Amino acid sequence: MDAIAELRGKYLEQVAKAVDINGLEGVRLAALGKKGEISAKMRELGQMSAEDRLIAGPALNGLKSEIDAALKARRAALEDAELDARLQGEWLDVTLPGRPRPQGTIHPISQVMEELTAIFADMGFSVAEGPQIESDWYNFDALNIAPEHPSRQEMDTFYMHRAADDHRPPHVLRTHTSPVQIRAMQTQGAPIRVIAPGRVYRMDMDQTHTPMFHQVEGLAIDRDITMAQLKWTLEEFCRAFFEVEEVELRFRASHFPFTEPSAEVDIRCSWEGGQLKIGEGNDWLEILGSGMVHPHVLRSGGIDPEKWQGFAFGMGIDRIAMLKYGIPDLRAFFESDLRWLRHYGFAALDQPGLAAGLSR
Ligand code: PHE
Repeated sequence: MDAIAELRGKYLEQVAKAVDINGLEGVRLAALGKKGEISAKMRELGQMSAEDRLIAGPALNGLKSEIDAALKARRAALEDAELDARLQGEWLDVTLPGRPRPQGTIHPISQVMEELTAIFADMGFSVAEGPQIESDWYNFDALNIAPEHPSRQEMDTFYMHRAADDHRPPHVLRTHTSPVQIRAMQTQGAPIRVIAPGRVYRMDMDQTHTPMFHQVEGLAIDRDITMAQLKWTLEEFCRAFFEVEEVELRFRASHFPFTEPSAEVDIRCSWEGGQLKIGEGNDWLEILGSGMVHPHVLRSGGIDPEKWQGFAFGMGIDRIAMLKYGIPDLRAFFESDLRWLRHYGFAALDQPGLAAGLSR
């Protein structure tokens, strides 16, 4: 019986002192494993006399379950402690702000298209679209551009190739966004207020011209629209777009086949110290063509010029983007130079809202 009390004391102490699961497993093997001390004692029962076994058997079994229970309790306690320690060491602050990983930028042309769309939307203009490959009827005839007009010459216009026996009407890469006027009038009728931003193409390539560039067309038709409203709309747009209180526009009499009267519009600016500033200075920069929609054009769009009239304009998007963001070279827009894109591009979340674009 002394031996049993001794074993009990020894193993209960070892169990209590075990500091980790591995140590505890060592204690278990030493006591209850196949070659363990208590297991050996159990085997000795076989050789005992019946009376001795009657006493030693229950005592050993009791010892075995007591040690077993102590082992289990200690294991649970050690596991809890281990988990606590891990929770202490491995906690993560999910409220920390993330590390930004910028992936590309918004091209200034895309940014400016978003900006001007927001401004014109606020004035009640919706966005219309048309194809970039356009029939020569939409690009020219419907806009009152006679076949002998110089802008039809192959010099300016990209014509689609036609096989000798292909008799479809000629198609061109649209040379301006004005054909969208016709398409919008045909599908929406009057009254109408639309803008049409998009790509246009002309055979031209030098410092200030690229064969592909961008325009935004504007069209407003109603019963009694006048040039005064054209002027107000453009001034209001420029104030909002360039974010300056005072913009000065100069309307110069001009000629377009699809408007009568017609005006080209310049904006006052200064180039002092190589820095371009809008709204001050003694320089003028041409940014758009405009006028009152020609009756022939209204008729092409299926609108009765006896009842309706309106204005139209076509503005160079690349031009106004260069002006607003101080971008000196037009061709750089289309060279896809990563250094340029990173410098002049916009963050994806830098979305134009009217709060940013409209100062009044
Ligand atoms: N389509 C003309 C151009 O490309 C611009 C314009 C549009 C002029 C609408 C008057 C009215 O130059």
